[in-house]
Amino acid sequence: MTAHLGTTPPERRTWRRRHYLMCRPDHFDVVYSINPWMDPKKPVDTSLAVLQWEQLRDLYLSLGHTVDLIPPLPGLPDMVYAANGATVVDGRVLGADFRNHQRRPEGPAYLAWFRENGFTELREPLHVNEGEGDFLVTDSFVLAGYGFRSDARSHLEAQSFFGRPVISLELVDPRYYHLDTALAVLDGDEIMYHPQAFAPASREVLGRLFPDALEVSAADAAVFSLNAVSDGLNVVIPEAAGDLPVHLRERGFRPIGMDMTELLKGGGSVKCCTLEIRH
Ligand code: ARG
Repeated sequence: MTAHLGTTPPERRTWRRRHYLMCRPDHFDVVYSINPWMDPKKPVDTSLAVLQWEQLRDLYLSLGHTVDLIPPLPGLPDMVYAANGATVVDGRVLGADFRNHQRRPEGPAYLAWFRENGFTELREPLHVNEGEGDFLVTDSFVLAGYGFRSDARSHLEAQSFFGRPVISLELVDPRYYHLDTALAVLDGDEIMYHPQAFAPASREVLGRLFPDALEVSAADAAVFSLNAVSDGLNVVIPEAAGDLPVHLRERGFRPIGMDMTELLKGGGSVKCCTLEIRH
């Protein structure tokens, strides 16, 4: 982490235009609790959630990315968390199958969107998997979380469908119930993560595969700083992040903080609202 202190940060040349799918939180609310962040007794300001979401979408557009929208469905207050809707690698779409009944109808809705938008290699999932909530793609691997939501059997399913090595990682802290709340891909095979969110053996795996990873503090993890979206240069993070922006700058990234407080009431932030379509 201190390797770049006092020297010029490395230049980032691997920025790429990205293609994202998002879902406007018109029906966002917290009426049930399926993760420790959700408290149905706390009031939710849906129009503020829409405003924060629009700022995130506008930021992606201003950075040169493409943003497609899936129509939000009434009665699905968590549908804004598009990352959970599917996993797309090399144009292949692995559908999601949600653990909790409240979100189950989102799986077919997202898969239908891909079918209607010209994707032909689609797979209806055999095992519970919550899309990019638990599948994160680096250049060499698909990193896959289990322990709270996705069924570990979905990892083999993803490996055969995508033809990429899948690395299973066990999550142990209920606050970090999806992999994308504890780990983010910054660029290529460069990642950042919060070690304490993982079982000891998974920590060891991460240490071996990613010896240069940025390890993120408990304080930064607790404000959802790891729920980040990177295009290889710009790293979009919740604005509540503490030290993380400094460490990202040392590595040559450009951190951009966004106010996502309303969407955090559902247990999601920047990454949760963003599904990446990889062609
Ligand atoms: N309320 C949603 C749930 O618990 C939040 C999902 C957040 N999404 C994510 N990719 N981590 O399922």
